[in-house]
Amino acid sequence: MYRIGDIEIKLLEATIASKQLFRVGNPASGHWHQVLNFENELAQIVGTKHALLVSGGGTSALTCALIGLGIGPGDEVIVPAYTFMATASAVLMAGAIPVITDIDESLALSPEAFEKRISKHTKAVIPVHMIGRPSDMDKIMEIAKRHGLKVIEDSCQAGGGSYKGRRLGSIGDAGAFSFNDFKILSCGEGGGMVTSDPSVYEKASIFHDSGASFRPYAKDFTIPVFLGQQFRASELMGAVLRGQLRRLEGILSDARRNSNRIRNELGSVNGLKIAPMNDPSGDCGISVAFTFESEVKARKFGQSPGVGAYLPIDTGKHVFINWEPLLKKNVYHHPRMNPFNFEENKGLRSEYGDEVCAKTLDICKRTAIISVSPDWDVQTVTQRIEACRKAVQ
Ligand SMILES: Cc1ncc(COP(=O)(O)O)c(C=O)c1O
Repeated sequence: MYRIGDIEIKLLEATIASKQLFRVGNPASGHWHQVLNFENELAQIVGTKHALLVSGGGTSALTCALIGLGIGPGDEVIVPAYTFMATASAVLMAGAIPVITDIDESLALSPEAFEKRISKHTKAVIPVHMIGRPSDMDKIMEIAKRHGLKVIEDSCQAGGGSYKGRRLGSIGDAGAFSFNDFKILSCGEGGGMVTSDPSVYEKASIFHDSGASFRPYAKDFTIPVFLGQQFRASELMGAVLRGQLRRLEGILSDARRNSNRIRNELGSVNGLKIAPMNDPSGDCGISVAFTFESEVKARKFGQSPGVGAYLPIDTGKHVFINWEPLLKKNVYHHPRMNPFNFEENKGLRSEYGDEVCAKTLDICKRTAIISVSPDWDVQTVTQRIEACRKAVQ
């Protein structure tokens, strides 16, 4: 949560006054269509034909995208080794097997490692735009196209970011956003799936609103309604998120101003190397990353007075070696529902030892990240820059 206040309060007040909190309703009786309006506004901003707001978070938005693309048992999906565990767990929720793959120093999926990991079972790849930083989408899309793979952009940490002028989430076949408390756009919890493929949208809509064949929009479905999950969003979520969307450009431009200043002023300082970026102009601005030669140097820098940087290796469930339930292959409540036990998944790659992505562990130990707030004033940014300079003197 970066900013929230009067805009959201007004939208919430109107919604509560309508006494209609279910996403479907009649405007003639005061229903605001906050969810539907938010979906249209999000799709417009991101640049996709469709958006679906889900109550279950980025995890369920990713699951909806996978289901929408028809991914399931017998399929391998490539995911980066540095991402929140949910990227991989969503793959398992769809019945497929995540294949964990190295990142590069940009902290996003390495295109070279991605291509090397493709097997005859690979159906999709999920590049993750971690800490607001775009993945190398040109290379990833080119490789995916050449191998006939679907691309789902995990944009959970990069709401509003872009790559070469296109918003993150609109470049692949589908994209997913998280609206939990730690994200650029937030209503505490929730997620958004975006796509321009009507069949992905249709399957995801059915899955997220299981058995809802009586709802007005279901009459337009071209496939029979199947049972799925209940991830429908409420009008309260729609109201808050519509307010958040109005703040998006302000949050991004303030965060970018601060992070650009840090990068510009520290870029040529001896002993500091700004981590490579795939598209600095599309970066959300919420972080600045530095690459060091060793973990000792990165830690020393991060712990120097006033620097306030963390090492990705210390961020728990964001590094694959800490995805305990997945590493232990504990999925679902019943062994027959566990994708690791499916007949179709026998022979698929599910080795998750540290050695599988040793390069990622090395990078996560040698990188130090400063989280940047859009609300830092000039003096705060100056103090951070000075602290970083002192740290490497
Ligand atoms: C990269 C990434 N993917 C997926 C998720 C899952 O989102 P949620 O917690 O909203 O389900 C998160 C959440 O932190 C995330 O950071």
